[in-house]
Amino acid sequence: MTRIGIHDLELATSHHVLDLGKLAEAQDIDPAKYRVGIGQDEMSILAPDEDIVTMGAAAAQPLLERHGQQEIRTLLFATESGVDQSKAAGLWVHQLLGLPAHVRVVEFKQACYSGTAALQAAIGMISRSPAERVLVIASDEARYELGSAGEPTQGAGAVAMLVSADPALVEIEPVSGVHTVDVDDFWRPNDSSTAVVDGALSIRAYLESVTGAWDDLAGRGSPDPATIERVVYHQPFTKMAVKAQRALSSRSGAQLPARGLQDASVYNRRLGNTYTASLYASLASLLDADPELAGSRIGMFSYGSGSVSELLTGIVQPGYWDADRAARVRKALDARVPLEVEEYRRLHARVLPSAVDVDNPRVTDGPFRFAGISGRARHYEATGG
Ligand code: CAA
Repeated sequence: MTRIGIHDLELATSHHVLDLGKLAEAQDIDPAKYRVGIGQDEMSILAPDEDIVTMGAAAAQPLLERHGQQEIRTLLFATESGVDQSKAAGLWVHQLLGLPAHVRVVEFKQACYSGTAALQAAIGMISRSPAERVLVIASDEARYELGSAGEPTQGAGAVAMLVSADPALVEIEPVSGVHTVDVDDFWRPNDSSTAVVDGALSIRAYLESVTGAWDDLAGRGSPDPATIERVVYHQPFTKMAVKAQRALSSRSGAQLPARGLQDASVYNRRLGNTYTASLYASLASLLDADPELAGSRIGMFSYGSGSVSELLTGIVQPGYWDADRAARVRKALDARVPLEVEEYRRLHARVLPSAVDVDNPRVTDGPFRFAGISGRARHYEATGG
């Protein structure tokens, strides 16, 4: 059987950052509730000329520089925070990256889960045509109402993955566990730029899903739990992974190592929730923190409210270690420009109606920018940066 999985992966985030200590101070809340209680330190905030397209293209560009674009025949763009009801966000990425007309593009939606659906679709395509590669982009801006319980769990980021046969990073194993339930824990009506959420229900639904997906995996002949050396989780906030690990350990009887959990949360603590990208940011965080993982079997738990979840397993490939990627991510996180709370609140309130033409101010120093809207259409450009 052809071995298929993630050949390479890159992460991108926003121009701005908000320190959660500052937010806690402005809200007269003990900062320990954020840093310890939910396990978050910062959240990435988009500049006015950034969105899911600019982050997605910025994440994908280095993959094309390293591997070329010849074998890519499909671009799958996964997002909760789509920018158009009809057109796939990946089409603007296709143009910004100069991909050829023979690359098909489509957008995947199911809350935070759709990055995993895109990865599975990519694997299916490659199993049929092993010479092809698929570019999967998961990109999101997590937005909740100001003053809501979800506010400190906002964030922004994108992960681009090149999926191929004989992958250099992580081979995805063929059997996975799935758990789907119709539940109103988190959703976003078409006329709302912020999510509606029942926080307590969403945590319960997530935890029932992690054990439900485990049971499905076990019923399908999963690998022996004792052979799973690390598990990475979708992380709406990093404490959620701690809760999930506890639930999974008691269900599976496997003592999953706590060290992996910390390694797999380093990026997420600083990005905030990145919805579809969150699990893959956590995977990057783990791979970049530990040089001793070659040959290890890891579990990967994907949860998308509403809800669909999936527990995959993967084998870390020899040669996965790339100290440069860790340095690049740290540099991107450190380079974000800090906001004061008032500036952050002003940016949060800026929701562009499509009926009004706008030239966005030049703020981002990323490689691509959201230039503005004219004639109800969005326009993007390369910055040369
Ligand atoms: N020092 C240390 N810890 C403190 C503290 C302090 N001063 N004050 C509170 N805490 C702890 C609490 O004990 C609690 O810990 P445990 O969960 O371990 O008991 C934690 O901080 C959070 O406190 P609350 O439960 O009081 O927090 P809250 O109700 O204000 O908000 C939340 C929590 C409901 C999760 C909220 O952040 C939220 O609505 N988030 C959005 C929804 C979400 O992320 N759900 C997760 C599952 S859904 C999903 O995964 C999909 C997705 O991406 C959205």
